[in-house]
Amino acid sequence: MKPYILVEPFCGMAALSFALMGCQPPISWMGSKRGYCRVLMELLGLSRHHPPAAFIWSDTGPNVAALACLSGARGDARDVAGWVWHSAQAYSPVKAGTLQGLYIRTNNKQNISTSQLSANVADITLPRAPEVAAIIRGWKDEEPRALWTRLKAAGWPSLLLPEGSGGRWLGPQSVEEVAAWLWVGGHENPFGNDVKPQFTPEAVGRATWAPPPKEWLADRVATLPTKPPMVACWQGRAEDMRLPERLDGWITYLDPPYSGTTGYKHGGCTRDAVLALARDYDRRGATVAISEAVRLDDALPGWHAVQIDGERVGQKRTFSKQQHEWVTMNRKPVVVPGVQASLFGAR
Ligand SMILES: C[S@@+](CC[C@H](N)C(=O)[O-])C[C@H]1O[C@@H](n2cnc3c(N)ncnc32)[C@H](O)[C@@H]1O
Repeated sequence: MKPYILVEPFCGMAALSFALMGCQPPISWMGSKRGYCRVLMELLGLSRHHPPAAFIWSDTGPNVAALACLSGARGDARDVAGWVWHSAQAYSPVKAGTLQGLYIRTNNKQNISTSQLSANVADITLPRAPEVAAIIRGWKDEEPRALWTRLKAAGWPSLLLPEGSGGRWLGPQSVEEVAAWLWVGGHENPFGNDVKPQFTPEAVGRATWAPPPKEWLADRVATLPTKPPMVACWQGRAEDMRLPERLDGWITYLDPPYSGTTGYKHGGCTRDAVLALARDYDRRGATVAISEAVRLDDALPGWHAVQIDGERVGQKRTFSKQQHEWVTMNRKPVVVPGVQASLFGAR
């Protein structure tokens, strides 16, 4: 399989990307696809033994800024595309143009020498996950509620889109703010989606009330990649994220807010906008897969829709009203989930 770039334009906690890196997202996330990673990989023919050469993540919220810091993101989509092309050139000689349409940021030419390559790769930022984990570990003796209140009051301005900004490519953010945001929980509700926080004195100290154990979170963060994966992160609307014109060989996985369900605090995207984005990526040569609670092949003729409700691994979503889970793709799925035949023949 050729080197490929994975784009998650509605990344949340990027469960699919982390699964392809062989690890898990640092915290839970509303709408996370953690339980569906296995089937998503099968549909797309992906494996953690052949991870993407680079990732591009976008989201409207502070989550993507935290991910940028943890993964050592730097630069924009063109940089990432350039790095991929560089490594293809350096390690497995291929003809220039194999990864078509890539724009080499360094000098705009595709004949880059080894010394230019090492100069370029040398300034790739390292992931800050170990530093974030060390900070969380340092809080181990602090009283949880006081800590939670203090961190929440301090906020995390470096992780939020500056007022009036139409979006930005992210570099590493403040390590302290990333640690604080992760521990406070990322969702305003530090106690998980299914438990409402109760800020009453009686509730303090109750087990169900506790934020994620600090040690647990520090350990989870410490398992994130310490080698630089190639990552670019866009904070802003997916519709505004600029990618190279040609996306041949790229895989785009769209997991937008599901139409008609609880919205996300920092952004939304209409069904029409999602479909327009999917058609545009398709036109530019990318493989496109969209998750939704309904099939979308009526609006995307010739695409393939696969129902994956039964493929979820792990806990069922007891708190969700959502009944179905579909993936609609512009390529034939590589492996389709098996369907259990009825014991007594067709009904
Ligand atoms: C279903 S969640 C994605 C979950 C993700 N696949 C995971 O496994 O964690 C949808 C995400 O889209 C983000 N979002 C909403 N509108 C957006 C937009 N216009 N552009 C980019 N992201 C958006 C939300 O903030 C939310 O994190």
